[in-house]
Amino acid sequence: MTQLKFTTEELYDDYEYAALHERAGVRMHGGFDSSGRYLPPRSRGRRKAIVAWTEALRARGGELFAADASLLTGARMPNVAQQTLLLAHGIGRPFWNSLTITGKIEGRGRILAEMAFPDLQKVIVEDISGMALGHLNKGLLVMHGIDEGGEPDRGIGGHDVMWFVARDLAFGPDAFPDVDPPESIARPEAGQRLMPELAPEYEAMLSFLMNLLLIEFRAEIGFASTQEILRNPELFKDRRAEAEEAAEIVGRIREDELIHVESLRLYLGEIRELTLRTLDGGTVRGSTLIDRFWDGLVRWATVDQPAIAAANQYETLKPMILEEPEGARVLAQFDALADRKAPAAASG
Ligand SMILES: [Fe+2]
Ligand SMILES: [Fe+2]
Repeated sequence: MTQLKFTTEELYDDYEYAALHERAGVRMHGGFDSSGRYLPPRSRGRRKAIVAWTEALRARGGELFAADASLLTGARMPNVAQQTLLLAHGIGRPFWNSLTITGKIEGRGRILAEMAFPDLQKVIVEDISGMALGHLNKGLLVMHGIDEGGEPDRGIGGHDVMWFVARDLAFGPDAFPDVDPPESIARPEAGQRLMPELAPEYEAMLSFLMNLLLIEFRAEIGFASTQEILRNPELFKDRRAEAEEAAEIVGRIREDELIHVESLRLYLGEIRELTLRTLDGGTVRGSTLIDRFWDGLVRWATVDQPAIAAANQYETLKPMILEEPEGARVLAQFDALADRKAPAAASG
């Protein structure tokens, strides 16, 4: 029979790396096999378990929670064409800032390794000990957090450090002053109960997992765009080899993120097939709770939030462009390249 229950040690089981993942004396997570292929950190045991749980979920008639290209829409500021224009005019600070901010936001993901999550078994009727959900507190969430924020006490960088290394490869060290991420934009529904059937800590946990899936899934567009910019032979002309290497590091981050997206889709796919105990002594299908919450969240994360973020971002970028000698002319071209606000209206 396929193994569905794993110890923490089994989940952490990892490959023997033929070479460590290092650059300029900075150790980063993961490593390489003897053929030079990148191996994401802590991926052997995790991968084996995810495959087994996914097969079991499908055998019960379930499926990974759906996440497709429809979640990737929304305005981007700056888009690839705009960022390329700026870099081609020697305006590097916006791209440098975006790499720095992405790294810092990734680093915040370390909170997953430090947070205490409630035991879902207490509100789920079915036995979850042979499911991914039964292993969230057995290492899955801690590993996810360490992937993002690394193990500073062991001198091993996670995604945060990987972004900083990629940035410094492309630009050279200390190219611009440090910058912090903008304040996050709160959803108007924040604080409102959307699953009143459950105790707040369980609603918070399900909400957290759904928000995280959307953030991780959508981050992929930004990561792919960054790689495209780094690989443009017309940009970073004095540092082509370094920029290519930076693009490779971003590619490794993208590989690591696949495990996160797949895990989250698995957790939510499992919950949808299960029965939860309600506060009033009844029960509710997981799919009822998840689908109700998800629909509103998607509207916010793919339409409303990107529009606000793009407008804020434009206000931050504008002075950075105008401070350049040819700023006004570049800004006019930059504006012409913006994502159209209402594609449906524009084409009609
Ligand atoms: Fe990450
Ligand atoms: Fe992630």
